Parts: sequence; structure tokens; C-alpha cells
Amino acid sequence: MSKAKYTVTAALPYANGPLHLGHVAGVYLPADIFVRFLRMNNHDVAFICGSDEHGAAITLRAKKEGITPQEIVDKYNSIISKAFTDFNISFDIFHRTSSEIHHKTSQDFFLKLYEKGKFTEETSEQYYDEEYEQFLADRYITGECPKCQNPSAYGDQCEKCGSDLSPTELINPTSTLSGKTPVLRTTSHWYLPMANHEDWLRDWIKEGKLDGVQQHDPKPWRNQVIGQCMSWIDGGLHSRAMTRDLDWGVKVPLPNAEGKVLYVWLDAPIGYISATKQYALDNNKNWEDYWTGDRKLIHFIGKDNIVFHAVIFPIILKDHGDLILPDNVPAYEFLNLEGDKFSTSRNWAVWLHEYIAAYPGREDELKYVLTSIAPETKDSEFTWKEYQTRINSELADILGNFVNRALVLTQKYYEGKVPERGELTEEDQLVLAEINEIPKRISKLVYAYKLRDAQAEAMNLARLGNKYLADQEPWKVVKVDPKRVETVMNIALQITANLSIVLQPFLPTTAAKLSNFLNFKTTNWEDAGSADLMKDGDQTNTPEILFQKIEDSLVEEEVNKLKNTDSMESKFDAQKDEVTFDDFTKMDIRLGTILEAEKVEKADKLLKLLVDTGLDKRTIVSGIAEHYSPEEIIGKTVQVLINLAPRKIKGIESKGMILMAEDEDGKLSFMFPEKGFEAGGGIH
Ligand code: 2FM
Ligand code: ZN
Repeated sequence: MSKAKYTVTAALPYANGPLHLGHVAGVYLPADIFVRFLRMNNHDVAFICGSDEHGAAITLRAKKEGITPQEIVDKYNSIISKAFTDFNISFDIFHRTSSEIHHKTSQDFFLKLYEKGKFTEETSEQYYDEEYEQFLADRYITGECPKCQNPSAYGDQCEKCGSDLSPTELINPTSTLSGKTPVLRTTSHWYLPMANHEDWLRDWIKEGKLDGVQQHDPKPWRNQVIGQCMSWIDGGLHSRAMTRDLDWGVKVPLPNAEGKVLYVWLDAPIGYISATKQYALDNNKNWEDYWTGDRKLIHFIGKDNIVFHAVIFPIILKDHGDLILPDNVPAYEFLNLEGDKFSTSRNWAVWLHEYIAAYPGREDELKYVLTSIAPETKDSEFTWKEYQTRINSELADILGNFVNRALVLTQKYYEGKVPERGELTEEDQLVLAEINEIPKRISKLVYAYKLRDAQAEAMNLARLGNKYLADQEPWKVVKVDPKRVETVMNIALQITANLSIVLQPFLPTTAAKLSNFLNFKTTNWEDAGSADLMKDGDQTNTPEILFQKIEDSLVEEEVNKLKNTDSMESKFDAQKDEVTFDDFTKMDIRLGTILEAEKVEKADKLLKLLVDTGLDKRTIVSGIAEHYSPEEIIGKTVQVLINLAPRKIKGIESKGMILMAEDEDGKLSFMFPEKGFEAGGGIH
């Protein structure tokens, strides 16, 4: 039977921020392990990824940083793709959805479905921000989740309870642009009807059957993937708009579609196809070979992407008609960090590019730890303490120790040459049988997407070797029975050579080091299991230490770094959204002199002030009565925002605001300028 062919995708990361360890553990690392294993097993495979550069996540980030969406995606695409390269993630291509080939591919895709009558055009009322003159799609709107009362759910999803929402379901909707309550306005969009897809989806997801033909084996599909899809389908599949009123994205390729772009969740998965096209162009191949015929399409994703990859994209692929549907959608749960969720806004995260910069050369250590704790079936947690323990007592004490002993003793006893194997004891035979079994067990686990267990099984080979040397004690036996030690050391070197194969998918750099120590290299998985990889007399080298132990101080430093950011955030307010320089210069802040001050009736906190701004004398109501008496501030020069829109406070029109400093207990104090500055002077 010929080997199955694979197209493996890893969720396209949004180019709106760097990658943290949660992303790595729950998508990119497992996908990379799987693909490295497939390559070693001579499967024809393409490993596809790229930046997801459209959607509200990008435009909102651009607004926050005060730069254009293009600048945002350029910036993060380069940080992300560099981190992937440095971390040795072996994509065949890392592409971008802002590329021309992607825009063209998704427009053609849209047109094909349109021409086949797969969309309906529907008019509906959608929220609109009158100040920004813009419809508010998805993340442009927040409000209370009707299901779990989370006050900051998004228009498309509640991140707290995971519910899929539409903006009109939100209670107290607010525009994320102006912060105001939006109004409803009529707009029309192209929708994908999904209700008529429910039946085949059920058969396909649960049984792996498509139109009665077995398409995939449903067994390796994870329970949570099947469960989430079924509950979605059982809840009834409603039509979903495939276009949006936005100016950033792939333009809808129809007349009269001015100002409309494709829904990011339509164009992003098509990104897998456009990336494949680019890969094929670059490598003189046909992209269709990767999306048609007898080929397994595998999507590695996080659990928040399940319905898009296992329900919506398959509907789109089936409607398109010419392309294969996924064979499996291995979805990962979430990784937490030191007892809390990863949070970009609180900076509660370990960023991949920062780890690489801080600990160059320790990529395999991180890979090992992340695979050991990968959230395959339930949420899991990264702690720096566990990072230390796994490296010190597993990588260093077991794998590192074994390899070092095997090679150092070979140098010492035989000048590095592989000794001959003599008569085998029962124990030797058990060890050789294990050497033969372990690669088979790993293989089974990888094909079943159980990469955490697969890596543990690879480590069992090192464990076996470590125990074998400890039991055989060649350093003692050498004095009484040197012939016996030749057999023991031969077996130890066969184990080391096997490790250089079975570790390749998980710890590629370490495996390459082992190959160098041994002067032995194969990338063929089928070679694993043999006890004759190292031939008698083969020359090996003196090893270097494979893994440095992690000191307590590193753990302390890293944990403190996290806690410090977090506690700073809790003592003082978090930094507000960024503003542009232009925004800043709009504020007219000047020095003013307080001419009069009096208490406002029935308001304990307010003082009514008459302030000389240098331009005029005006009334400002200020909430400082608990901090200053009227008498003590008359004649003082203070800082005033003079072009703040007038507001009525307790019936008094206040024209401006006095700027105050606040300490951590909430005490307010004027920021007096040094002497000699007079009213009217600007503050820049
Ligand atoms: O959730 C996310 O990060 C999305 N950018 C994933 C997109 S996957 C694919 F469809 F492109
Ligand atoms: Zn909710």
C-alpha cells in the first residue's frame, strides 16, 4: 500500500501581537512534531501556515497603537515568523493573507460559491457608530453576554463562556470605537445558509462518512471536537454573514459591493489554500495535488477555532465541490500560566520571542516541557517550577546522564570505538526487545495524535538506557569481566543511536547532537528499533553536556517578573489605549491661576472655581473639595485642560478641567509649576 499523503495546517496566527507559550503548546509545536514524524516516515507532506492579517482584531490593534493596519501586520508578521524560525518550527511555507495571491484566491473562491448560488443576499439591521460613521462588526462591539452576564463579551463571541454570539444579542451594546451606544441601520450582506448542511455534517463528523462513503476514521477525532460540533449542530445551524462592512480585508468581488469585504473567517481558512499555491509556485509543484484526491487534510487548532474548521470551512469546501475535506481537526484546550489564564492586557504571559532571546539554545528544553504538559484533552498549566523539574530531573538526569555515560565510557575504554557484542544475558534480550518495541508504540501514538504520550514513550528509551547502565555497572564490572562490558557498552550505544532517531520529531536539535556524537545519521523512522545501527569499530566522539540544569534563581526571577507586572497593574490603573501624537496635540493644556473658589451646595466633593487662563476668566467645577479648602487654593497656579467640551455639573457649566496627581490611596494633589510661570503658558 502506498503511503498516505498529507496536507497539514496550523491555525494562522493573527498578526496583531506576538506568540505566547499557550499558542505554541496548543497548535504549532504539536503540528511540527506530527509533520516531522510524517516526513521521517516518507509521507508526502506539506506543512502550511501564515499570518492571519484581516479582521477586527487587526484594525483595533492598529487603532490602539496609532498606526495603520498594514503597519501592524508587517510588524507582527515579522516578529511571529522570526520566532517560528528561531524555535525551529518546520513549516514548508509561512505565508500572509495580505498577499496578492491570497486576495485573488479568496475572491475566486467567493465568486465560485456565488455563481453556484451558495449564498443568499439578506438585508438586516446592524449596529452602526454614528460618530465614526461605521458599521460595527464582531469585535467592534462589546456588551453583556446574554448567557453568562460577562460584561465585556464581543459581538461575535463571549470569551468567558465560549458562546457564539451575534451583536444584536448583546445587552447594553457599546461601540469599541467611540465608547457610545450604537444605533441600528440597514445593510445587506451575503450569507452562507447552513441549516441544510446539518444531516451530512452529523454523519461526517460522527461516522466519518460523506455521501455514504467512508472518508475518515472518526476514532482519532477528539471527544471535545465531536462534542462541540454536535452541540452546535443540535442547536440549529443558522445562516452566517460571509461579508462585512469594513475597509480592511479582501474586497467583495461583486458590483455594488463598495465598502464590503469578506468575513475574516471566510478568507482566513482559504489562506491555507493560497499559501499552498505560493508553496507550489516556489517549488515547481501543483497546488491542486495538496487539496484534491487521495490526501489527508489535517488542521491543528486551538479549541476556540473548532466550529470554524470542523463545521463552517467544511461546508464551504463541500459547496465549492472540488476540494477535500479535513481528515482530522486535532484541537487543543488552553494552557494556563502560573495559576492564571494567559492575558495580553495584563502581560501575564511568557512570549516566545522573549524566551528565545533570554535563553538562546534552550529551544529543545522548552519544546520538551510544553509537549509534556500539552493541553491535549483538558486545560493544563505551565509553571517555571515544573519547567525546572522536567529539565533537571528528566532531560538532564535521565537523557543527558545516560548519553553522557555511554559516550564517555566508550571513549575511556575503547578510544571511542564501538565494541563488539558478545553473548546476551536475559536482561540484554529484554532491553533489545524494548528497543524494538518503543518506536512502534511511538508511531501508533503519533498517528493517533497523542503526542504527549508519544514523547513520554521516546523518553522511556532513555530511561531504559539509564537504568540498564545503572544495573549493569560497567564501571565496576570492567575490572573483573571486561568482555562483558563490551556487550553492555555496545547495547548502550545502540540505545543512543535509536534515541537519535526517535527524538527527532520532538527534540530536533538534541537528536542532531546525538547524531554528531555518534557519527551516525538517519532520517528514516524505519531504521529505529534495530540493535545494529552502530557497527563494531565505528568511531564515536567525546560528547558535550546536553542539558544545563536550571537554577532556582531562574525560576524565582521569572515568577517575580510575572508577579511584578501583575501587582503594578493592580496598584495603579493599567495603561490606557495608545493615542497618536495628533490626538495628544488636540489637547490644549495651560497654566491657569485660581482667582476665586467656593463650595458647591449639596456636593461634598466639588469646588466651583474661577480660573484665569490667560485668555479668559472661566468657571471650572472640580472634584477637589475633600483635598483642599477654598481658602488655601486662591492665588495658586495650576494646570488646566482648557478645550474640554463644557459640561453641566450640579447645574453649573464647567469649562475645562484642573489636572491633578493621584497617589495610590486616592489622595489628590495639584501639580504646581515652579515659580515664575504665569497663567496662559502652554503645557506640551
Ligand atoms: O484564532 C486565531 O488566531 C485565528 N487567526 C485563526 C485562523 S485559522 C485559519 F482559519 F486561518
Ligand atoms: Zn458568556
